[in-house]
Amino acid sequence: MNLGIKDRVALVAASSQGIGKATAEAFAAEGCRVAMCARNPQTLQSAADRIREQYNVEVLAEPFDVTDAAAVTRFVAAVAAQFGSVDICVTNAGGPPAKGFLAASLEDWQRALAANFLSTVYFAREVIPHMQKKKWGRIITITSITTKQPVADLVLSNAVRAAVVGLVKSLANEFGKDGILVNNVGPGFTATDRLKELARAGAASSGKSEQEFFDRWAADTPLKRLGEPRELAETIVWLASQRASYITGQTVLVDGGMYKGL
Ligand SMILES: NC(=O)c1ccc[n+]([C@@H]2O[C@H](COP(=O)([O-])OP(=O)(O)OC[C@H]3O[C@@H](n4cnc5c(N)ncnc54)[C@H](OP(=O)(O)O)[C@@H]3O)[C@@H](O)[C@H]2O)c1
Repeated sequence: MNLGIKDRVALVAASSQGIGKATAEAFAAEGCRVAMCARNPQTLQSAADRIREQYNVEVLAEPFDVTDAAAVTRFVAAVAAQFGSVDICVTNAGGPPAKGFLAASLEDWQRALAANFLSTVYFAREVIPHMQKKKWGRIITITSITTKQPVADLVLSNAVRAAVVGLVKSLANEFGKDGILVNNVGPGFTATDRLKELARAGAASSGKSEQEFFDRWAADTPLKRLGEPRELAETIVWLASQRASYITGQTVLVDGGMYKGL
């Protein structure tokens, strides 16, 4: 299938590892020019170098924290200056800590809002005017299965991700006339460092082993295995492509069937 996005400019936030990195790679594999960011400069640089070498595409990588609105503004301006525009923007950030409601501090709530909601607002404000000029754009948010089905001890994610879905639907409604499609992708349990962090937290509070957590997550999923970052990435790239030209305002779960609703 020709996805029709060769030479498009794809910005992928929080992309030095895990699902973000796999997504940057998948856009590079389609011949897109890629812009990446994350906080740790070394990990980011080595991910960017690998993608550049493997796929022979232009890659711009800048280390910064996506909760810093001014840094997001500077980055989007730098991407547009180097590549001429921003066609595709995938928003992402690390997940909030696993906690129950009374264990979560007010600081935890503020951090979760900043990383997992406001960062999407910051990117959307900056990229939409570029997309409006070209009458073409894609914004895809990476959230979680928690947008459809709350997960125990992930109250921060369960609550904050819902705000992203409200934003996605609102942006889809407001900017569809400009050819900008806005969708949300929700991972289920996917084999990344984030999942190791959740297994460690679960093991520490329950006395069970980390392996028991991985086994239970796989067993709870109809496909009986964890997801691979590549499987999220390929869904995101397809949603950003010309082949998904009549889909907007949706949440697509890539969860091996874990969501129990209809
Ligand atoms: N893996 C799963 O099973 C799963 C399931 C549901 C939802 N999710 C969600 O999907 C998203 C991606 O998950 P993942 O598993 O790929 O996570 P991951 O393996 O922990 O990778 C997170 C990436 O984001 C970067 N990052 C984190 N916070 C950042 C910030 N404030 N500013 C800039 N970059 C930042 C990290 O680099 P630096 O640390 O260097 O900044 C890293 O590159 C998360 O929001 C996660 O909660 C994951």
